Amino acid sequence: MKVMRSGNGVSHAKIILIGEHAVVYGQPAIALPLSKVKTRVHIEETNNGKQILHSRYFDGELLHAPTSLAGMKHLIEHILDEHSLTASSFNMTIKSDLPAERGMGSSAATAVAVIRALYDYFELHLSPAKLLRLANIAEKIIHGNPSGLDAATSASSHPIWMVKNKELYTLPININASLLICDSGIKGRTGEAVASVKKRLELDQHATQTLLNKLGKLAFAAREQIAHDDPTGLGETFNTAQEQLAALGVSNKQLDTLIETSLSLGALGSKLTGGGRGGCFISLMKDQEEAERLAQQLRIKGVTETWIQPLGNASEEEKANAFKSIHGPRPY
Ligand code: PMV
Repeated sequence: MKVMRSGNGVSHAKIILIGEHAVVYGQPAIALPLSKVKTRVHIEETNNGKQILHSRYFDGELLHAPTSLAGMKHLIEHILDEHSLTASSFNMTIKSDLPAERGMGSSAATAVAVIRALYDYFELHLSPAKLLRLANIAEKIIHGNPSGLDAATSASSHPIWMVKNKELYTLPININASLLICDSGIKGRTGEAVASVKKRLELDQHATQTLLNKLGKLAFAAREQIAHDDPTGLGETFNTAQEQLAALGVSNKQLDTLIETSLSLGALGSKLTGGGRGGCFISLMKDQEEAERLAQQLRIKGVTETWIQPLGNASEEEKANAFKSIHGPRPY
């Protein structure tokens, strides 16, 4: 009896600590993986000659996937084509704990897990650089002009520092604080927000560029504060970043209100994360207990889901990998 092939791929959510939007225009950003919030892909060989997709948005032949899955469809077809495997027959199941359109990198996490599963299924070698290149194929279709930050963080088990097309290396985060991640309950609008920043840059280049430069400076400040275990300073940096993001037009009323509420309830700093105009925001808290208390209080105010990420736990492996370039030389 023929042994049927199978393959698996896993990835996780990401949170941008600082630098969203500005990263698209060459400023640095810091992002961290949320390893507990996972996307899993499983592929089973079949003999019906079809490529079937099972996911929360679509169940059916890949051929008939809706336009909302165009990035994923194109990515799978690209990989099959590249390796002359278009005649393959399989069922692919995508299961994700990530909320979609909340600034947690759901599309990039799915792309990374799908690529890993396909390479596992076909027993092909997958280098980190190739994984990123492929993940960005899907991201480009979804977001138009992605910085690559989502894909890089979904593929990394360590926090990262990134400057688009220039610097990408691991950044150990060992700061005595906890990060509370909150879902505002409103769909984020990354594509729309990215397009509006582009438009703003065309209409008022000087003022917009000043905001983007300021966000870049804040990313450098955050890196220093992380290196020197300065949660108070990092909280202030979050608040200043939120002011710039609001001035860029990528926050919204609900986020502004929830962020202000967080601050009045004791957060050291709070800002939106990801594309904005909805989605998630993050609040820096003194410790885990404080983060749990704020999470409970914010749920009463309309926050729909919360996650807590301790920041004081850089592993020995992470410290050993500090400033290790993911591809390319160490930048400084
Ligand atoms: O909303 P998300 O999780 O896709 O994050 C988008 C981050 C941006 O900086 C706004 C865009 C990008 O490509 O980096």
